[in-house]
Amino acid sequence: MYSESNEKKLDEIISHYPVKRSAILPALYIAQEENGYVTDDDIKYLAKRLDMRINEVEEVVTFYTMYSRKPIGKYKLQVCRTVSCMLLGAEQITEHISRKLGCKLGETTPDGRFTLVEVECLGYCDLAPVLQVNFDYHEKINTESLDKIIEGLK
Ligand code: FES
Repeated sequence: MYSESNEKKLDEIISHYPVKRSAILPALYIAQEENGYVTDDDIKYLAKRLDMRINEVEEVVTFYTMYSRKPIGKYKLQVCRTVSCMLLGAEQITEHISRKLGCKLGETTPDGRFTLVEVECLGYCDLAPVLQVNFDYHEKINTESLDKIIEGLK
């Protein structure tokens, strides 16, 4: 199911933990890297590899916003909606992105480049509002800086 190199990565990660199930988060990253999202087959496979029940793996995938259960765009735009960011304009940030890209919250642009989602606190509350693009963080964003960020990704 995984490529040979990702299968080796998975074996390596599992070997670092005394209990196989502890490898679930990095294992899910590998699954997501393989397909762009976590598939039903990934969940069944990881449950078997990590000695977990299928529903336990599913619970982890759906709890954390960094995993997707459906195909997403090349760039996942994650707007923090928790208190500090909300008070400093997160809602306007989301609306601005939505208008600019022509896609609603939770949707992916027709060209497959961007997916817009809201997430809970990203841990940079003192630098709110915060946008995470894939694994990069952008702090104290406003509509101007946002436009630059998006243009840089096109
Ligand atoms: Fe947005 Fe913490 S509230 S980063």
